[in-house]
Amino acid sequence: MGKLDGRVVIVTGAARGQGEQEARLFVAEGARVVVGDVLDGPGEALAKDLGEEWARFVHLDVSREDEWSGAVAAAKSTFGKVDGLVNNAGILRFNELVSTPLEEFQQVVQVNQVGAFLGMKAVTPELEAAGGGTIVNTASYTALTGMAFLTSYAATKAAIVGMTRVASMELAGKGIRVNAMCPGAVDTPMTNPDRVAADGGPKAADETGSAALDEFYGKVIPMGRIGRPEEVARLALFLSCEDSSYITGQPFVIDGGWMAGVSVF
Ligand SMILES: NC(=O)c1ccc[n+]([C@@H]2O[C@H](COP(=O)([O-])OP(=O)(O)OC[C@H]3O[C@@H](n4cnc5c(N)ncnc54)[C@H](O)[C@@H]3O)[C@@H](O)[C@H]2O)c1
Repeated sequence: MGKLDGRVVIVTGAARGQGEQEARLFVAEGARVVVGDVLDGPGEALAKDLGEEWARFVHLDVSREDEWSGAVAAAKSTFGKVDGLVNNAGILRFNELVSTPLEEFQQVVQVNQVGAFLGMKAVTPELEAAGGGTIVNTASYTALTGMAFLTSYAATKAAIVGMTRVASMELAGKGIRVNAMCPGAVDTPMTNPDRVAADGGPKAADETGSAALDEFYGKVIPMGRIGRPEEVARLALFLSCEDSSYITGQPFVIDGGWMAGVSVF
């Protein structure tokens, strides 16, 4: 028995990184997964690898409401319903506040914040029709504490925590739980260019690159290493299954202790 037997979950940004691991773990736990992403080749390859009985790729730019309608329709026509969503797609741009072009700020808002909003809006009627379900939004450590050079990104991640709280209150009576994950630093293509293949999809990083990341983050993270996407996927699983049946509206920090405090030694 899997923890997600019989469930149908849309995972956005699932072609690589945390979303890929969430799709893989959810299928391993018995769910049917709709892999949504703008990276068509890598997304198709993942769905094929998971098997057509279990996964379907859908081209989904989360910032476009029409593409959300298409993704929901595809999920229903393929697997009969939708009762779970992991809003995982996101982009990161580093820039000093005063140097951040308005277009860049708006692009980050459009993908991270508007994308999560549109996702919740599009799937909620389906979750309700299915008799309830779960939404897991991917925020960040930077939703809860500051990080220099991340004005646009931190703004959107704080907004995601805010929307999570509001949605949880509005949807609790419909049997829908809404929570957020706040990862610290995680070794994915977003943070580790060594993990990006030529087509934008995932590739195995060489061990030196990952060791260098561990050394870099080990200076500030009590657990002494960067996080792994599989670890975030396990939190997404917890928040999507019955193990978290009495939890809604909360941000969950997963950061190896980074936010616990500052060490002077
Ligand atoms: N890696 C980290 O350290 C870290 C830390 C905190 C939060 N996060 C968040 O976790 C989530 C996953 O990040 P990751 O580290 O796996 O990054 P990643 O860059 O490896 O994966 C992000 C995925 O989102 C997809 N994507 C980008 N724009 C999209 C759009 N408009 N529509 C649909 N898909 C789109 C990308 O193609 C990619 O497959 C993001 O929301 C990110 O902000 C990551």
